[in-house]
Amino acid sequence: MEVTRTVKGLRARTAAARATRRAVGFVPTMGSFHRGHLSLMGRARQERGFVVVSIFVNPLQFGPSEDFGSYPRDLDRDLALAEAEGVDLAFAPEVEEMYPGGLPDVTVDPGPLGERLEGASRPGHFRGVATVVAKLFHVVGPSAAYFGEKDAQQLAVIRRMVGDLSFPVDVVGCPLVREPDGLALSSRNAYLSPEERTAATCLYRAIRGAADLVANGERDAAAIRARIAAVVEAEPLAHLDYATVVDDDTFEEIDHLDSPARALVAARVGKPRLIDNVRLDA
Ligand code: PAJ
Repeated sequence: MEVTRTVKGLRARTAAARATRRAVGFVPTMGSFHRGHLSLMGRARQERGFVVVSIFVNPLQFGPSEDFGSYPRDLDRDLALAEAEGVDLAFAPEVEEMYPGGLPDVTVDPGPLGERLEGASRPGHFRGVATVVAKLFHVVGPSAAYFGEKDAQQLAVIRRMVGDLSFPVDVVGCPLVREPDGLALSSRNAYLSPEERTAATCLYRAIRGAADLVANGERDAAAIRARIAAVVEAEPLAHLDYATVVDDDTFEEIDHLDSPARALVAARVGKPRLIDNVRLDA
């Protein structure tokens, strides 16, 4: 596996891959790899001839009181894991390499979808995500890019951006990877104390309960939201941010389940704010 820290080096390597007719698959990440990240690289490896992973903790998508400074970073470990997954090229730029003139003035407006749910709780977050992903797409030039359903709203924002702005990239959504007890893998799980780690399973229990309700015939979204909220609120170490049921395409909140939907939950457990979601098939 090759490693480059510069846009110039990245462009040269991906251009060479395309010149030999190898389709470029791209996995954007902020590093601190777990099995969720590795599953995206594995999928890219299966489907494309040349796999690029970016490792960049993007300051533009963190709020002023968020964890940009303390976000877990371990580049050597990440590079070894990516290599073992068969990645061809890792791009690990410094902030100055990505944003040489300081943070950009021209950014990608993620539209109304970027203002709801995660966007409401984290103002500016999806503008930061859409902007860095657009920039990375331009420098990598992939034919496909791989995103996890763990961040379901992020995946929807990227799909929307790629459609609305005609990026020549297939966006591939990949299944959410969980711990054996259901907790969604997340780099931020590292912040949890042992008690909080146990409590954190309430997010999965809540959305699992929502899926069970739907399997048993419940179609009223308000009843499903109430059930999710009740499970999280029963956990003393958890503080609910939102519990909702949205249309799986538009991410609009719905009243009634008559097309594919998604249950989403966000809660703070100790220090970290955690999210989880599950598709609901009526
Ligand atoms: P990061 O949080 O590092 O996640 C990188 C990718 O891994 C995302 O597509 C995310 O959905 C996926 N992922 C994380 N946990 C997962 C899990 N448990 N199962 C499956 N996939 C999982 O998301 C970002 O970085 C950034 O916002 C980024 C897109 C790189 C832009 O900066």
